[in-house]
Amino acid sequence: MNPDATGFVPPQGERGAQVRAMFDRVASRYDLVNDVMSLGQHRRWRRFAARVSQPAGTSVLDLATGTGDLAIQFERAGAQLVVGVDFSQSMLLAAQQKFRRKKSGAALELVQADVLRLPFPNESFDRVSSAFLLRNLSDLGAGLAEMRRVLKPAGWVIALEVTHPPSNALGGLAGWWFQQVVPVIGGALSGEWAAYRYLPASLGPLPTAVELATMLRSVGFRNVRFNRLGFGSVTVHIGQV
Ligand SMILES: C[S@@+](CC[C@H](N)C(=O)[O-])C[C@H]1O[C@@H](n2cnc3c(N)ncnc32)[C@H](O)[C@@H]1O
Repeated sequence: MNPDATGFVPPQGERGAQVRAMFDRVASRYDLVNDVMSLGQHRRWRRFAARVSQPAGTSVLDLATGTGDLAIQFERAGAQLVVGVDFSQSMLLAAQQKFRRKKSGAALELVQADVLRLPFPNESFDRVSSAFLLRNLSDLGAGLAEMRRVLKPAGWVIALEVTHPPSNALGGLAGWWFQQVVPVIGGALSGEWAAYRYLPASLGPLPTAVELATMLRSVGFRNVRFNRLGFGSVTVHIGQV
């Protein structure tokens, strides 16, 4: 990645600019906060998300790649090429450093771009993934349509996302943790209190897991299904073109 690459068009609209600035601020502490607030579970969730789509030999576009953890999982699962896209320069620089540290990267590329306006032609990739992106989008329907647009025929979409937990005891525990504990842990570890108050707030407008599956169908995906992980607080949606 060239962080000064010309051609990057900053996001349009206030929401995108705010989200981008927020992730630029939290990038240096992002991985640490993820480890603590998910009690290390986020690694397992990403591994599951990467493997469930059988990516061996495929080209993968990982949207909102952040510090690159899901991209690395796709590489480990045998993807031939993984392109990570994000609009936060600081998150991409953290990903780049991590790829070097882990001596991964042969199949990994990074591109700075807005996922609502991807700089790729139609039907470019075999897999399009995202982890913890969807609730940040100013226009979820447009984001899902972009995912569909850049997928080749028979391609797969994979979306890992926080969701509204089920109304049972474990779901209640997961909801309490996410709504009450995560903002305190995130704020204390990063010093960015507003960013980690935003996290539970961003869940509010997000559709339920069933509604998200319906949205994926409505932009043209078939065989849509989802798995619940983390006491039902996280889902992995999968669909095919
Ligand atoms: C919660 S982080 C997730 C990062 C990574 N996928 C992970 O699993 O840790 C959300 C990421 O989405 C990126 N992002 C949010 N909206 C975006 C957009 N419209 N275009 C590109 N990146 C976006 C942010 O910069 C941030 O890196």
